[in-house]
Amino acid sequence: MENKVINTIKNRTSTRSYSAKKVSLKKLELILEAGKMAPSGMNRQICNILAIHNGRYVNSLVEASKKVRGKDCYYGAKIIILVYGPKDDPFVTQDASCILENMFVAAEALKIASCWINQSEGILSDPRNKKLRAKLGIGEDKLIVGSCILGYSEAPKSIKERKADFIRII
Ligand SMILES: Cc1cc2nc3c(=O)[nH]c(=O)nc-3n(C[C@H](O)[C@H](O)[C@H](O)COP(=O)(O)O)c2cc1C
Repeated sequence: MENKVINTIKNRTSTRSYSAKKVSLKKLELILEAGKMAPSGMNRQICNILAIHNGRYVNSLVEASKKVRGKDCYYGAKIIILVYGPKDDPFVTQDASCILENMFVAAEALKIASCWINQSEGILSDPRNKKLRAKLGIGEDKLIVGSCILGYSEAPKSIKERKADFIRII
């Protein structure tokens, strides 16, 4: 049985090479809306989304990543979305992951490439990047669970095989 949504989910891949073409604000807003509508534990909505669309801020984060990791962890993407919530909340990882996955799938539906980037918390908790974290308005009591980068792919699409024993039905 064919289903448009399931096909979109199955077509999503992580992209690590981006062209200079910009994602429109309209498409970004649609992707963010999909993130916002993710489920949350007990509907507490403890997480926040910060979409970095302004090139100056994107560059600041790239420079920050070079300082800490010695490379651009964001692969030249034009948009970086940080998803964060209270560090000490037991649901923060689960809630943020739902938000992130909704955004990856929404991006795929709009033919926009994406990738989860895990390094943002490490980059922005480094003392050298304290000022930037404050500028971005992410308190030190927050945990950046993950980031979603967006852009147009420069690489050919390749969907990875899943393990044969991934699923069991009993
Ligand atoms: C929790 C998590 C952390 C990840 N961190 C990174 C990362 O920091 N950098 C990166 O290039 N890809 C990262 N990825 C993407 C995975 O490498 C990717 O999902 C995996 O290789 C499967 O490929 P696919 O997404 O194309 O299906 C992450 C994915 C997840 C779910």
